[in-house]
Amino acid sequence: MWRVKSLDAILATAEKKSLHRSLGPVQLTLLGIGAIIGTGIFILTAAASQKAGPGMMLSFVIAGAVCAVAALCYSELAAMAPVSGSAYTYTYAVMGELLAWCVGWALILEYAVAASAVSVGWSGYVLGLIEQGLHFDFPDLLSAGPTWSMNGWVPTPDFSAGIVNVPAIIVALAVTGLLVLGTTESARVNAILVAVKVIALTVFIALTLPVIDSANLSPFAPNGAFGAYSGMGIVGAAASIFFAYVGFDAVSTAAEETKNPQKNVPIGLIGSLAFCTVFYLLVALGAAGAIGAQPVLGADGSAVQPGSAAFTAACALAENSERLVCSNEALAHVLRVIGHEQVGNALGVAAMLALPSVILMMIYGQTRIFFVMARDGLLPEGLTKMHKRFKTPYVVTIFTGLAVAIGAALFPVGQLADISNSGTLFAFFMVSIAVVILRRTDPNRARPFKMPLVYVIAPLSALGCAFLFWNLPHDAKMVLPIWGAIGLVIYFAYGIRKSHLGRGHVEVHENDGDIPPPPATT
Ligand code: ALA
Repeated sequence: MWRVKSLDAILATAEKKSLHRSLGPVQLTLLGIGAIIGTGIFILTAAASQKAGPGMMLSFVIAGAVCAVAALCYSELAAMAPVSGSAYTYTYAVMGELLAWCVGWALILEYAVAASAVSVGWSGYVLGLIEQGLHFDFPDLLSAGPTWSMNGWVPTPDFSAGIVNVPAIIVALAVTGLLVLGTTESARVNAILVAVKVIALTVFIALTLPVIDSANLSPFAPNGAFGAYSGMGIVGAAASIFFAYVGFDAVSTAAEETKNPQKNVPIGLIGSLAFCTVFYLLVALGAAGAIGAQPVLGADGSAVQPGSAAFTAACALAENSERLVCSNEALAHVLRVIGHEQVGNALGVAAMLALPSVILMMIYGQTRIFFVMARDGLLPEGLTKMHKRFKTPYVVTIFTGLAVAIGAALFPVGQLADISNSGTLFAFFMVSIAVVILRRTDPNRARPFKMPLVYVIAPLSALGCAFLFWNLPHDAKMVLPIWGAIGLVIYFAYGIRKSHLGRGHVEVHENDGDIPPPPATT
């Protein structure tokens, strides 16, 4: 189980790959921005405010800083090994099969659960448009899933917010259908959707910054830095809003389609992250400064966890109806409250159009990770079955899409995002360690992008990930070990025996298993 897949074999696969290398630095950066801007900024700004108040601006800075150092680690590995599978493949080459399996298993949380979260975020905006724009009352019970809490080790639902999120199911299945038909978004469509998102955020900033009232920013940190309990305060909000940055690593999954990847992949990773960070900070300032970002309080006078039953009850009070923290469509809501009703609706339309492309990237990323793991023998090879007519890996796509739809139907967006973060932080943590180990075990290998101060930055990245993980809400933190334990059972029951590497095949794949190229790359 400690066997490693040789980096040379992995690279030989990449070299044989028949996919055309067509992406330049601008397209790659657009690809990154397309995957990054989504539910995090459009919806979770509200949850971050509930946790931190206006201090959520600092939360964006903290989460962005952790992503920046992690992005440097990704850049070094992605430039060295521009291959599919991202963190899973790097770990396989550096730390062996068992840990690679764990990372691949955690990436399911990152990609599939994130796709569910973005589907629920989309649903929030669509319902806002239906109710505020069209004045149609959609049944509450069908517009949100239950909220969950752990009763000991038993997850327990609370149905006060809703039973099932129907719009979220519809969008998740629709995107899955498109992927089965082989609709990968074209680079041009991606560029247009990126423009839609960036214009929406720019208009938001332009309308909110002039009406900032400094009184709205005080008290700045009503829940302090750490909050009264896990997941609250400025660092608790940072751990949740980390979700807003997730997706930049999608750039590394497109490394095989990139011209001069050694130079362009780091540009795409770091460029897209830097661009989004600047926008996020301005949006957070505009939202909090324009209408305030104070948390709602529970019966005992303390700020309640967003998404909890107590939170739903507090937000149902008429006096809290205009609060940022209670909105399911935070940015459109801010614009409506400051008197720009129609612009708020237009921003809602922009989110409705653009968020499905984030879902597409996430489901696509998941199918690709499954695909690579199945090709290594760690998952059943049946998953890699291609559709005769559409030439898409339909089995794995339908399987993933159904799982995403179930998650989207039954969980609130904040909980999904926190669970996704737990898996992502684990993967980033492993990548940060892999980069250091590889410097020691393979010091002479060509490193086209050599990250500066590796012995400072990589440990900082690992510590930053561990720190954010630690500040996730208790329930989200518990998911990772439970999920990991299930993964270990599957590995020892299946993968350890079926592994191609374990059976002595060191494969060099001619064309990377005919996986279609990532969305937005052609
Ligand atoms: N960063 C992506 C989003 O916020 C996943 O939707």
